[in-house]
Amino acid sequence: MNRPESLASLAASVTAPDFVRHPRILGWVREFAALAKPDRIVWCDGSEAEYRRLCDEMVEAGTLTPLDPVKRPGSFLARSDPSDVARVEDRTFICSEREEDAGPTNNWRTPREMRATLEGLFNGSMRGRTLYVVPFSMGPLGSPIAQIGIELTDSPYVVVSMKLMTRMGKAVYDVLGTDGAYVPCLHSVGAPLAAGERDGPWPCNPDTKYIVHYPETREIWSYGSGYGGNALLGKKCLALRIASVMGRDEGWLAEHMLILGVTSPVGDKRYVAAAFPSACGKTNFAMLIPPPEFEGWKVTTIGDDIAWLKPGPDGHFRAINPEAGYFGVAPGTSYESNPNAMETLKADVIFTNVALTDDGDVWWEGMSKEAPAHLIDWQGNEWTPADGKAGRKAAHPNARFTVSATRCPSLDPAWDDPAGVPISAFVFGARRSDTMPLVVEATSWESGVYLAATMGSEMTAAAFGKLGEVRRDPFAMLPFCGYHVGDYFRHWLAMGKAVAHPPRIFGVNWFRKDAEGRFVWPGFGQNMRVLKWIVERCAGTAKGRPTPLGIGPDFDDLDWRGLQYAPERFAQATGIDRAAWQRELVAHDELFARVGERRPDALVSERAKLEERLSG
Ligand code: OXD
Ligand code: MN
Repeated sequence: MNRPESLASLAASVTAPDFVRHPRILGWVREFAALAKPDRIVWCDGSEAEYRRLCDEMVEAGTLTPLDPVKRPGSFLARSDPSDVARVEDRTFICSEREEDAGPTNNWRTPREMRATLEGLFNGSMRGRTLYVVPFSMGPLGSPIAQIGIELTDSPYVVVSMKLMTRMGKAVYDVLGTDGAYVPCLHSVGAPLAAGERDGPWPCNPDTKYIVHYPETREIWSYGSGYGGNALLGKKCLALRIASVMGRDEGWLAEHMLILGVTSPVGDKRYVAAAFPSACGKTNFAMLIPPPEFEGWKVTTIGDDIAWLKPGPDGHFRAINPEAGYFGVAPGTSYESNPNAMETLKADVIFTNVALTDDGDVWWEGMSKEAPAHLIDWQGNEWTPADGKAGRKAAHPNARFTVSATRCPSLDPAWDDPAGVPISAFVFGARRSDTMPLVVEATSWESGVYLAATMGSEMTAAAFGKLGEVRRDPFAMLPFCGYHVGDYFRHWLAMGKAVAHPPRIFGVNWFRKDAEGRFVWPGFGQNMRVLKWIVERCAGTAKGRPTPLGIGPDFDDLDWRGLQYAPERFAQATGIDRAAWQRELVAHDELFARVGERRPDALVSERAKLEERLSG
């Protein structure tokens, strides 16, 4: 490939295709190209032909391995660099002008200092590579709740992933017209190629990574990683960190929540938005299939990870899923845990860091009880079940699938409705082997905000911290809130008054264990029993009784058709251990001490009321 004579002249000679009629975008692409110095620029149109061409090029480059065309049509396997397998929270920064506006839960640098650092790193970072201009809409095109972003990236893996995960393509420019607002997103894998240097299958920068957000100017700069939430900038960076700031300023909510619909046998349909920390089974819950005895009940999927909610003219929060695909954790996904996901994954999927079978298919831990006799593991090495017994995983624990939502059999008919869907209930859940009961309903908006703010979850392989340790993860937003967490709590308290019909708030815990370390609750499809109680509480038809934590069901308040579940087991799943709650209150105090002066008084008073109820 010939290098252009002068890289600066490449930037000056950049022209946009006819479908881009937005001078500011052209100026910005020119300016960035002058800095990053790519060899060429491609303005992506989002077409199928473009997707196929890029996949073919990545097969040629060794980035993608095509899977068997009969077993997994249209699907590929990517193996990342072993240093580039997950989000990098310690390299993620919120660069507001003032440190106190980023708050105690975010890494912070001054915008000035960070810009200097990043301009240094991006200078020439795309040498030898192609700069792709990727227009995308988070949310249905033209929806009043949607936002537009443009990602400039040197990774074709990012381009094809954005095609699956967002509404990506030239129709975005029609929405933008000549002057529409967009969030500029800059991404480089940080691995420039010297003249004649051969590229590796997964270029990235093993030593230097920065995931940077400028909340005041609403910009994103990401350097050094090609993986997931670090590189697909529409997802965690735009749809959560930047959008949470937009929501604070404009009176709406950007949340780490799945959205599902529940239809009863008489056709009463309600939508529920549920927040869980990473790796707590959000995709499983979003695609739940009710037990067979629940004839006539149906669960449908709007989204599995992120919800944007705006007060609607009908007095309800109207919610959209800003994404258009699923970037889910593969290990643990099976026909037992999530049949809808398994059906979704039958074709047109990009798998990353799963194992390859001898017949050109994929496998991961938990997909089947028995592992195949021979595999190629996520790093490309031979693997047999003996390696598994020795503790070497075939798939990386954070291995992922990337697939369009349109492949999901439980997709809700309103998933693409620009008006969004009305939300009846917010559910907050985390992974706790003790302390938190199976389900509880908050008795007021404020007590619900307290419940969500103080949520803690045990660490898993995909998350950060010490395995098994409880990490406070307010609203499951700890790594994703783009501003001071105390202000975020205030915003939530205020939003309860922004709608005439605020959703009811519930807490759930599917992960309680008994003294032998066994899960007390069967989980997965059986969660329908709890979900039914939740929607019936919203409809005013389910009973419950007051507990110190809120309203909880008695054994007879849940529907047990088709499940032998002893009342003693139910008591274990729902009991409130006062000594454990004294320890929990101390953990809440530590959280609020960390939040500092910006913690709202309303939450301090909720804490006092909770303590009183617990000692009553
Ligand atoms: C995710 C996460 O990838 O929360 O969704 O980490
Ligand atoms: Mn998530």
